[in-house]
Amino acid sequence: MEIRWLGHSAFEIISNENVKILIDPFISNNPSCSIPVEELDADIICITHGHSDHFGDAMEIANKNGSLILTNHEISLFLDEQGIEASGMNIGGSVVAKGIKFTMLDAKHSSSIDFVDEIIPGGDPASFLITLEDGTKIFHAGDTGLFSDLENIVGKIYKPDIAMVPIGDRFTMGTFEGALATMWINPKMVIPMHYNTFPAIAQDPAVFSNFVKQLRPEVEVLILNPMESCVPQLKKED
Ligand code: NI
Ligand code: MN
Repeated sequence: MEIRWLGHSAFEIISNENVKILIDPFISNNPSCSIPVEELDADIICITHGHSDHFGDAMEIANKNGSLILTNHEISLFLDEQGIEASGMNIGGSVVAKGIKFTMLDAKHSSSIDFVDEIIPGGDPASFLITLEDGTKIFHAGDTGLFSDLENIVGKIYKPDIAMVPIGDRFTMGTFEGALATMWINPKMVIPMHYNTFPAIAQDPAVFSNFVKQLRPEVEVLILNPMESCVPQLKKED
């Protein structure tokens, strides 16, 4: 499995069976993303909430590639109105597509569709737990503040191997809250996201990394540069 950070909260995951997943594909207006949107394709696109920095270029990419879009019910209705087929779901539910399981979980944030003339309610914000063909579980927290489900549901029930956690502050958790969330989720590896895209969310990921070292030293913090790919080597459980 390969993970590429496209900057902000946008990630590309390529599974071992070569299924391509894009999460929150904010590409063309993303100052951290240097890849033209035409170069991206996806079998499946996950949209955590309606804000433009997450919805991004989902429509264009899906249109061109026939990607399956997984998002909340309200955003799926909006997409249907735009003539783009989307697969709606809601908090707590799962969808299996191309052998991969996508579970929609909660996030504490908002979700208006904020890039149209008249702002439209976009349902509730979400996070995604993605279970790959080999059982590896990746949790993308979306935009969120701290809330106890990160421990009680994500950490204790779903037990992800890898977590992507926002640390930019102002609109989401900051570095300390992100580290607390990491302690609660207790993944093998954490990747910080949603920082340094704009001046308003400038953060030093080393500060996050130090907090994680203090709170949960066994978690590996993987700080990626935008456009950087990694093939995570996860420690096997005994
Ligand atoms: Ni947002
Ligand atoms: Mn955001």
